[in-house]
Amino acid sequence: MNTDAAFQDRMLSLGLARVSEAAALASAKLVGRGDEKAADQAAVNAMRTQLNMLDIAGVVVIGEGERDEAPMLYIGEEVGTGNGPGVDIALDPLEGTTLTAKDMPNAITVIAMGPRGSMLHAPDVYMDKLAIGPGYAEGVVSLDMSPAERVQALAAAKGCECEDITVCVLERPRHDRIIEGIRSTGASIRLITDGDVAGVMHCADPGTGIDMYMGEGGAPEGVLAAAALKCMGGQIFGQLLFRNDDERGRAAKAGITNLNRVYARDDMVTQDVIFAATGVTDGSLLPAVHREPGWLTCETLLMRSRTGSVRRMSYKTPISST
Ligand code: FBP
Repeated sequence: MNTDAAFQDRMLSLGLARVSEAAALASAKLVGRGDEKAADQAAVNAMRTQLNMLDIAGVVVIGEGERDEAPMLYIGEEVGTGNGPGVDIALDPLEGTTLTAKDMPNAITVIAMGPRGSMLHAPDVYMDKLAIGPGYAEGVVSLDMSPAERVQALAAAKGCECEDITVCVLERPRHDRIIEGIRSTGASIRLITDGDVAGVMHCADPGTGIDMYMGEGGAPEGVLAAAALKCMGGQIFGQLLFRNDDERGRAAKAGITNLNRVYARDDMVTQDVIFAATGVTDGSLLPAVHREPGWLTCETLLMRSRTGSVRRMSYKTPISST
């Protein structure tokens, strides 16, 4: 075992794409079947099998939860052959289990990998998130600002009217005040029912028409989104939110002592990473897994922060081999 081996992001990235593809192909069989758990389990199993073929000494730092509640790909699980560099892995085998079960847009499989110690061990709690795309001065918007102030600051930086700004927000009762604040500026809101990793990534892809993401979602998804933006460019800020002592205990277990800290993108992901996401259902970032008699085709977004490279890879395979 050689866990001191250099993190060869170029070589490892294609392996990472395979992991993401396998999870998408497995869960695609359960699109629209109304069974979130089965879809998630299929993605987990496939992702784990592929991960264990990679020559890495990997540790899951963002995973499916604690060992007792997640039999596979739990936080702290060691993955890979053990013959290779020590790496941190953040994953969500199926980001959007409900989207998949209901065949709604933007369900994706997601995985990021970086050198050991490069990713925030975010506990499974909520995170207040704010994200924008590339090209703006650092800190042009902040979590300290009200939702309306964020829209006004971004519009000023973009050189447009507030009416020209579109903000993506998870549709939840807890976001009613944020939505009201954004609407008071005249900005437009794209409401999504689930999937805030894709929600944040939209900000860095001009084709989606989204300028900013804000609201509370899963903290693990926040780290995955930070990994994506480290590759695509853009800013994300996140602050962990705790509702009770059990959640504060989860932070302590993850080694987090400052419970009020605001994490910027590079605090959540401190070194270069590779990131792969594959579309499960149709979405604005990636198409769905396509079925035709005997064949499955999927598309994967594969990115490296070191070079800023973005690949879109189409993979067609006989159904019999999945
Ligand atoms: P799942 O894929 O686990 O269903 O999570 C989807 C998701 O929408 C995330 O993208 C988001 O961060 C989180 O759930 C929001 O949580 P909640 O549904 O509790 O508001």
